[in-house]
Amino acid sequence: MTIRSVIAGVGAYLPEKVLTNQELATRVDTSDEWIVERSGIRKRHIAADDQKTSDLAIEAARRALAAAGRDGQDVDLFVVATATPDHTFPATAARVQAALGRPGVPAFDLQAVCSGFVYGLAVVDNFIRAGQAKCAVLVGAETFSRILDWNDRTTCVLFGDGAGAVVLTAEDGKGTTADRGVLSTHLHSDGRHHDMLYVDGGPSSSQTTGHVVMKGKEVFKHAVVNLADAVREALAANNVTIDQVDWLVPHQANKRILDSTAQKLGMDPGKVIVTVQEHANTSAASIPLALHAGVADGRIKPGNLVLLEAMGGGFTWGSALVRM
Ligand code: ACO
Repeated sequence: MTIRSVIAGVGAYLPEKVLTNQELATRVDTSDEWIVERSGIRKRHIAADDQKTSDLAIEAARRALAAAGRDGQDVDLFVVATATPDHTFPATAARVQAALGRPGVPAFDLQAVCSGFVYGLAVVDNFIRAGQAKCAVLVGAETFSRILDWNDRTTCVLFGDGAGAVVLTAEDGKGTTADRGVLSTHLHSDGRHHDMLYVDGGPSSSQTTGHVVMKGKEVFKHAVVNLADAVREALAANNVTIDQVDWLVPHQANKRILDSTAQKLGMDPGKVIVTVQEHANTSAASIPLALHAGVADGRIKPGNLVLLEAMGGGFTWGSALVRM
């Protein structure tokens, strides 16, 4: 008998305010054509002035719990993957736990930027398989609009705000790839590339929050190679082929990265969930937002084999194979 972490519910929340490429083009020297051609992005959602990352996270988690038919009181672990916490401390996850959960259960944040959701899935899966949690909420939530330099057209056009969440419950499996739940997770980082994508501030460096800085071309090249490697690693670990995967749910950074990675893998583009056009790159929130879109419109069905992959600042990257 093997304990499996089964995705029992998925939830998503995007702030009401929408910023289109056309509106952005009135603020910086860019155009809808340039943004769509280079990234596939058409719009992004921006948190209201009084909305914090925790507000987005709480709403996504609430919706995931409802989808799972669970109450926050059932939850024995809250993890929030975010690079844009409400405060340097305490953890944003503690706010989510206070709003939805039982006092006393563990709650912490996890920081792996755009790979945060895959990292979080690995951490929560290990808690569940070790018998230390039975019902966990994992949220990816970001207010990237707060750390963008809105005068830098090379970065501000690419990111947005949002949150996505999953409820993971411990279920008995047989230890085969026919089991429902997380089948394997694969994490990597290479800190030698920390200056390719970073925020130029922080408590112990500048005592400010800072802004996103990125060497876009280099990030692109590393992303396609690392993401394809991480996918192959997950396939090999489970002895499955790319054709057996029902859906690829990638981190939604950029349509060109998604297309190039799918092409490198020989993956049918029709089996890739793409939502980046709707909300831009929402960092740790993007995989659960895409997963939610696929589940909500009926493309991703119970029993489907789903491959998640992500790459972000650090560099960090990773993958996970999950049977829904
Ligand atoms: N609007 C119009 N022109 C622009 C803009 C803009 N928003 N931004 C840059 N340009 C200009 C540049 O100044 C440059 O002009 P020049 O030739 O006169 O110097 C020209 O467009 C081409 O710039 P490049 O940087 O060469 O454009 P590139 O084709 O590399 O596309 C992009 C840039 C979209 C950032 C690309 O490199 C990319 O997708 N990189 C990956 C970045 C990414 O997705 N990061 C997300 C985080 S990491 C992750 O999640 C995987």
